[in-house]
Amino acid sequence: DSKSRVTIVGSGNWGSVAAKLIASNAIKLPSFHDEVRMWVFEEVLPNGEKLTDVINKTNENVKYLPGIKLGRNVVADPDLENAVKEANMLVFVTPHQFMDGICKKLDGKIRGEVEAISLVKGMEVKKEGPRMISSLISKQLGINCCVLMGANIANEIALEKFSEATVGYRESKEIADTWVQLFSTPYFMVTPAHDVEGVELCGTLKNVVAIAAGFVDGLEMGNNTKAAIMRIGLREMKALSKLLFPSVNDCTFFESCGVADLITTCLGGRNRRVAEAYAQNGGKRSFDELEAEMLQGQKLQGVSTAKEVYEVLKHNGWLEMFPLFATVHQICIGRLKPEAIVHYREYKA
Ligand code: NAD
Ligand code: 13P
Repeated sequence: DSKSRVTIVGSGNWGSVAAKLIASNAIKLPSFHDEVRMWVFEEVLPNGEKLTDVINKTNENVKYLPGIKLGRNVVADPDLENAVKEANMLVFVTPHQFMDGICKKLDGKIRGEVEAISLVKGMEVKKEGPRMISSLISKQLGINCCVLMGANIANEIALEKFSEATVGYRESKEIADTWVQLFSTPYFMVTPAHDVEGVELCGTLKNVVAIAAGFVDGLEMGNNTKAAIMRIGLREMKALSKLLFPSVNDCTFFESCGVADLITTCLGGRNRRVAEAYAQNGGKRSFDELEAEMLQGQKLQGVSTAKEVYEVLKHNGWLEMFPLFATVHQICIGRLKPEAIVHYREYKA
């Protein structure tokens, strides 16, 4: 069978939009099977129905992307192993904290020539140091893994408003081009970049800056302060990326995955919104509580990424070089007040 079969592992807000983009291309392009499988972490809705059944009946993810048709060729499947077994192209798109468990479940289950791409923004921290999600997938499953990151607030792309994204790849430009083809639509312009670590670190680290931007909004500090926070944040994103992976390319920060994603997330993302509420409440209500109340099952990545980044900085003796990253974590855990987001003098920045 020369046609490729695609499975999407994940079905949250962005996962559902990825399914819509891919389904619209799979049905058009002769090199792909029409059917696109989407693994759904099963849950029972308040009316007693299973989410998977509702998606398959209505063609909508009523919980995570209500009001948007995914495409008739999307089939929701609650069984992870079954969902991936026929696929030779795997798209990973879940909140990053679940990826370790998912990879463990899939260990030894992936056979043949399989390519993967990660849309997951986040990292893990192990004793050996930080591990990006694409390398978790790659190492645990023994497959090549590209990444797709960009200025991509899912709900806007669901409405087919124009945006861009970057596919980061390690070796094969040909494989990157296949992913570009699978995701590209007239309203979603995808560009390849030969810098998988740079692209993934941009997508991951900007979530920490978005938390800082949310504090600035919650404290009504204004546009200049927010721009300053974004600039300092971008500088720290670049510096840390290069310390972790010296191969990271400066140009990557000017792609959609870099400065554009930083801007959109600091203006309109969930990390920003919940951090704004945290600051408005003077840090008295926890992020967990606000996340559950405001996001209704969707997940923040910035708070846990700030903790993971902090561990990396501390372990390497780099805390003083990254005042913004370090301060965000200290505010998130209640050690500093939200106002500290602009107090940098205690650091030798
Ligand atoms: P989401 O925030 O909507 O998270 C909800 C998803 O997590 C649901 O599918 C839910 O079933 C799943 N889930 C809950 N508990 C689980 C468990 N124990 N195991 C496995 N899955 C579980 O997810 P999302 O918006 O699709 O985000 C996925 C990734 O994509 C994140 O890394 C995010 O940063 C990134 N991303 C999101 C957006 C966006 O606008 N939403 C845009 C670009 C990138
Ligand atoms: P939030 O998770 O903060 O909504 O950011 C979404 C995103 O990654 C946009 O590219």
